[in-house]
Amino acid sequence: MLRRLLAGCLAGGLLVQSVAALTCPPDVGGPVVGRTPVSTELSGRAAAAANGAEVLEDAFYALAVLQDSYFVAVNGTWPSSIDWTGAVVETVVSGMLTTLTRSLSSNNPGSDVDWKQKENLISSVYAQVVHSFFGQDALAIANQAYDDMLWVVLGWLEATSFVRLHSELHYPGTGHDCNHLPIQLGQAMQTSSWQGYSWLCTFADRARAFWDLASVGWDTKLCHGGMTWNPRLTPYKNAITNELWISASIAMYQHFPNDTFEPSWAAAKGFAAKDPVYLAAAVEGYSWLKGVNMTNQQGLYVDGYHIDGTKPGNVECDQRDETVYTYNQGVILTGQRGLWSVTGSASYLEEGHRLIKSVINATGWDLGKNTPVDPPGGGLQPWRGIGRGGILEDQCDASGTCSQDAQAFKGIFFHHLTAFCAPIEPIVDDGMTVNMQKYRNVEATHAQTCRAYLGWVKHNVDGALETRDGAGRFGMWWGAGARTSGVLTERDDDISHMAPKSTDYRNKGTPQDKIWGENKWEPGSKTVKLPCHGLANGPRDLRREASADPADPNNRGRGRTVETQVGGLALLRAYWELS
Ligand SMILES: *[C@@H]1O[C@H](CO)[C@@H](O)[C@H](O)[C@H]1NC(C)=O
Ligand SMILES: *[C@@H]1O[C@H](CO)[C@@H](O)[C@H](O)[C@H]1NC(C)=O
Ligand SMILES: *[C@@H]1O[C@H](CO)[C@@H](O)[C@H](O)[C@H]1NC(C)=O
Ligand SMILES: *[C@@H]1O[C@H](CO)[C@@H](O)[C@H](O)[C@H]1NC(C)=O
Repeated sequence: MLRRLLAGCLAGGLLVQSVAALTCPPDVGGPVVGRTPVSTELSGRAAAAANGAEVLEDAFYALAVLQDSYFVAVNGTWPSSIDWTGAVVETVVSGMLTTLTRSLSSNNPGSDVDWKQKENLISSVYAQVVHSFFGQDALAIANQAYDDMLWVVLGWLEATSFVRLHSELHYPGTGHDCNHLPIQLGQAMQTSSWQGYSWLCTFADRARAFWDLASVGWDTKLCHGGMTWNPRLTPYKNAITNELWISASIAMYQHFPNDTFEPSWAAAKGFAAKDPVYLAAAVEGYSWLKGVNMTNQQGLYVDGYHIDGTKPGNVECDQRDETVYTYNQGVILTGQRGLWSVTGSASYLEEGHRLIKSVINATGWDLGKNTPVDPPGGGLQPWRGIGRGGILEDQCDASGTCSQDAQAFKGIFFHHLTAFCAPIEPIVDDGMTVNMQKYRNVEATHAQTCRAYLGWVKHNVDGALETRDGAGRFGMWWGAGARTSGVLTERDDDISHMAPKSTDYRNKGTPQDKIWGENKWEPGSKTVKLPCHGLANGPRDLRREASADPADPNNRGRGRTVETQVGGLALLRAYWELS
């Protein structure tokens, strides 16, 4: 299976097309409508995806399509992404590298030839990640909102985690620090570390720089703490910026290397591994987020808090915006998992599981029975809070009205679900005193609880696979296949878009009013072009294509994009990692 996968990608697509960017894949024809894919090969894959390595193959295929369709190798960019979604793409691709190196090594070690191909495959994708470091417009992001900055932190720490894992698995016993090249003159080759290590400190340095920049956003004058979303707008403390702050801070604590490559300067600023500053930031951030109460009656994170400006001298977070987005249910999971790993306090894990269960329930899925609560068929299923029919959904999916921001949301949820459900690591922390019996219990419960999510994840996978077009590109609305007929709009998608105290600013921008202030904020937007086809045939505007083919619900609005592709990839990877 893996041999076929490798052979396929080595011979045909990924290496030649993405890495060297010598040619473009042939134009595979227009998008495919709904449930009737033209390519029987693809629908066959969808059916087969239910088991085993097929899942890894589908995930790998999603990665190959992502890189072939959306990555421009001459520039090291996904040019149709915007800055923050590009950082998310890099994060998910790095996570996929972690999955690949682990999977390829656990499947029969194979011959030298096998190994050469595997290493070549992984190194090729890794080279694209490295290149994207230089393609990232760091200067621009440094002037954006605090959440934008923190995606960058998570992205480069994800890359360092891959580098360490790949090195441990395939070049064991070869330590490395930032002061030396991985391969040194006069050193025996056997003790050289993996060449990819050369970039570890470069990545870590950018993560640190952006954590530093974002740390300015922590503010105690209002709401007794919490991160402010955007320094240029009326103060608003939202879930995403705070979740990112918690997750990025604990990840800095866990993964930032012992950075001694400029010893005196670094030491003076206290840049060491396991800097307690990061841990303190994560713990404090978490306790603030819990204390302010950003969850609704369904246990889902709402968007955030305003400080009511009509009350003189008010400093309280007292005007809550009830809008629910999928990504707000995801990013915190990395923080909860990291806080558990570092502190050994099981409550962080329990709170994470409670959130995941709330999410699953609010998609209309019965975890006990492992089925959707609303039987399929008979028209559009009722909206259950964050999805329907057991499929995760953002409020813009069914009506095809998602902004570029929102198109990245569901993939983010599944990326962080994967991080949360990773097998519990053996205890290595020396300072910790641990009750082994208790630890083992937590470990077993965690693994068992995560396995129980698998049926729901698979149900989502099945939906998402159906949204692929003839070129293997995922759509935004994973539940589209379950619809019966008609073109849905916001009027008939069963979602209350005018609900009180709910502002869908991530799709529609902020209103210019007393609550949000006079400065209008608009969600990210870039005209969607397929870079590779652009090179070969001139730019192709997906929006125009979309209007030409209204019958495919996933061809409306922005259509299929780099963000929706990352959504499919993150979901398939979650399925593989959980199973
Ligand atoms: C690469 O970047 C340059 C400079 O920004 C730009 O002019 C060019 O169009 C980019 N190439 C592609 C294929 O996107
Ligand atoms: C970091 O490196 C310094 C200098 O090499 C060393 O003294 C220190 O013990 C290291 N700290 C950790 C946590 O590895
Ligand atoms: C948080 O707010 C929701 C909605 O108002 C409420 O149902 C819930 O009980 C609150 N949670 C806590 C811990 O106060
Ligand atoms: C699950 O969702 C249903 C509505 O679909 C609701 O009635 C129920 O209280 C929820 N259960 C939990 C545990 O949240």
